[in-house]
Amino acid sequence: MASRRDLQQRVPEWVAEILPEIAAIRQRLHRNPELALHEEQTAALVRDALAALGLAPRAPLLGTDVIALLQGARPGPNVTVRADMDALPLQEQTGRSYQSQHAGLMHACGHDGHTAMLLGTARVLCRLQAELRGSVRFVFQPGEEIVAAGRDLVAKGALLDPAPSAVFALHAWPGLPVGSICSRPGPILAAAEFFKITIRGKGAHGSRPEDSVDPILTAARVVEALQSVVSRHLSPLDSAVVSICRFTAGSNGNIIPDTAELEGTTRCLNQSVGDRLPILMERLIKGTCEAMGATYDFRYSGSYIPTVNAAAAVALGRRVTTALLGPAAWIDMPDPAMGGEDFAYYIRDYPGAMFLLGMGETCAPLHNQCFDFNDAALRNGIVFMVGAVLEALADDGTAATA
Ligand code: NI
Repeated sequence: MASRRDLQQRVPEWVAEILPEIAAIRQRLHRNPELALHEEQTAALVRDALAALGLAPRAPLLGTDVIALLQGARPGPNVTVRADMDALPLQEQTGRSYQSQHAGLMHACGHDGHTAMLLGTARVLCRLQAELRGSVRFVFQPGEEIVAAGRDLVAKGALLDPAPSAVFALHAWPGLPVGSICSRPGPILAAAEFFKITIRGKGAHGSRPEDSVDPILTAARVVEALQSVVSRHLSPLDSAVVSICRFTAGSNGNIIPDTAELEGTTRCLNQSVGDRLPILMERLIKGTCEAMGATYDFRYSGSYIPTVNAAAAVALGRRVTTALLGPAAWIDMPDPAMGGEDFAYYIRDYPGAMFLLGMGETCAPLHNQCFDFNDAALRNGIVFMVGAVLEALADDGTAATA
């Protein structure tokens, strides 16, 4: 039997062989973006590609998920690797030859690249099947954006039988050198929650404010009051964000409307802070509305918990990067980012880590109309994923616990 390092040394060459095809798949996915939980064609492409490798996905748990298990020749632990497949409601402006064929829809978060890289990872690992111990689970997940389908997938047992001893995912990251791998132990991404506040007042003629309960002025005061959640109700040592991102009211220049709507998001790195946020917010909304004679409806949905990496899993990723891509390819992430990720649910109950893959310093930001996954990073992404799986299987899972 070949040693783990022997196996890993073969990986770059095998990845080089499949790269043109993986880049073609990536661009095909980019051309045909699909919204959360509507990834029918993407899932079909993934299923076909896995079938060509002799992998039979299990029956879907959420409709468009594709989950397959590669059983190695010898018994051993399970390592699970995950990619997300959904796109965003955004009009692409990259001008690429393979740009989105669907108006108002695009892959602006690199999930096309994640899916293509996981298919490449599956190809290489299938080639190594006779020498693998344990099993590898490939999770192609729908609905990462907004709906946090990863939470539902995990709740429905996607990670059971066998339970993983390590779970890994890779996310495209603009601003880092192309193909670099970056992560940090502990929190890497924030809890992300969304809220909607409807303020009900009483409409009136614009010339007769005394007849109204003005929902616009009330909502403006609510916006202002909510600024004190972070600045005056939380410790300066706790980090959190409360952002109002939509303020909608009225239809005309001389009518005070009945209602105003506010929508926004909160972020934090610590779940106990996250639990307090809606309570603090509602107290301020209630007090402000009562003072103004208005009523309100407050909806708050907690979809994303903080993504917290196991220290040993990050150390494993660093070891693999240094061995297979060179020490310069690894970047220690100084601070967490305030974006949210439903991968958090995969590593809440199982050890694992999310890693970031550099898209280049000049790459447009994520969720931007000009963002495009950088195909020059595909090679390192796949080499890293395959290397991390081999390392975790050889470690019997114990190195990935923290
Ligand atoms: Ni994403």
